[in-house]
Amino acid sequence: MSKKTQVTKIGVLTSGGDAPGMNAAIRAVIRTGNYYGLEMFGVMRGYAGLVEDDIFPMDNRSVANIIQRGGTILKTARCKEFYEYEGRKIAYENLKKRGINGLVVIGGDGSFNGAQKFSNEFDIPCIGLPGTIDKDIAGTDFTIGFDTAVNTAIEAIDKIRDTMDAHDRLFIVEVMGRDAGYIALHSGVGTGAENILIPEAETDMDQLVASLYEKEKRKKLVNLVVVTEGDKYGGASGVAKIVKEKIPQADVRVCILGHIQRGGAPSSLDRFIASRMGYHAVECLLNGTHNVMVGIVNNHMHYTPLNKAIKAKQKISEDWMKIVKVLAS
Ligand code: F6P
Repeated sequence: MSKKTQVTKIGVLTSGGDAPGMNAAIRAVIRTGNYYGLEMFGVMRGYAGLVEDDIFPMDNRSVANIIQRGGTILKTARCKEFYEYEGRKIAYENLKKRGINGLVVIGGDGSFNGAQKFSNEFDIPCIGLPGTIDKDIAGTDFTIGFDTAVNTAIEAIDKIRDTMDAHDRLFIVEVMGRDAGYIALHSGVGTGAENILIPEAETDMDQLVASLYEKEKRKKLVNLVVVTEGDKYGGASGVAKIVKEKIPQADVRVCILGHIQRGGAPSSLDRFIASRMGYHAVECLLNGTHNVMVGIVNNHMHYTPLNKAIKAKQKISEDWMKIVKVLAS
């Protein structure tokens, strides 16, 4: 589509892992589009709904009473057919027969990868909204769902700390994030963890064991270690195995927080950024800023070409790891 072709009908879908705040983003997209007199459509189960033709009109009432709900009313799925050109062609035909000429994809980098290919191959501009609890996307200070996931992890770890303290135990808590350490870093700092293991920073395991041993000797028995699931030592179970081998007398417990981190009502921050990003996604389609991811950097809207949003990874500042070390001493 040339940039001059006016977008008149927009589809919206959620793809990849669900994240709290996705519903707030859907609501914002639908209501902004309707405000501008566009025809708005929802697509069920991500790209699968495009291929299977599960596409339906959405008015303002269809997104009432969802801003506070976790998950996604449009559901989400992985779609093998969309990896192939033939699948994407069917998806395009399904949009085209309804006259849909703009698409908003709410998801993570894998979802943007699909959007990028789709918009390159066919006559349909796509806008990405970063929706993932992992916060592993460059070009935005926040991703939709991250803040809620961190708050959920913090609430759970606070509870673990009560029982940890009562029993004088070492707890190794595993949080989500795949190969991104942001949930571990934020929840670990927010709960006063003694150690935080993230894939982005090298962990000196000998040093970690030595510091736990030293604390054990001076009877500082309550210790919290927060580990990213994708850490090279094999998450919390892997770390616990090493610690138990080296310090057999330590009373160690493991807790894997798991999918609880993906659910629940979105935080105020997630509702706010999702609403803001959803509004700007429609603005972008209307003003010709096509094939970008809408982010927020330094509290300003920031637009990253989809091909850069999919490749780049955020870097974790070394300062933050120093803060962890200093505050845990
Ligand atoms: O990307 C979001 C995420 O929750 C990751 O943190 C986690 O590794 C993954 O999804 C889990 O995926 P699934 O729900 O398919 O098990």
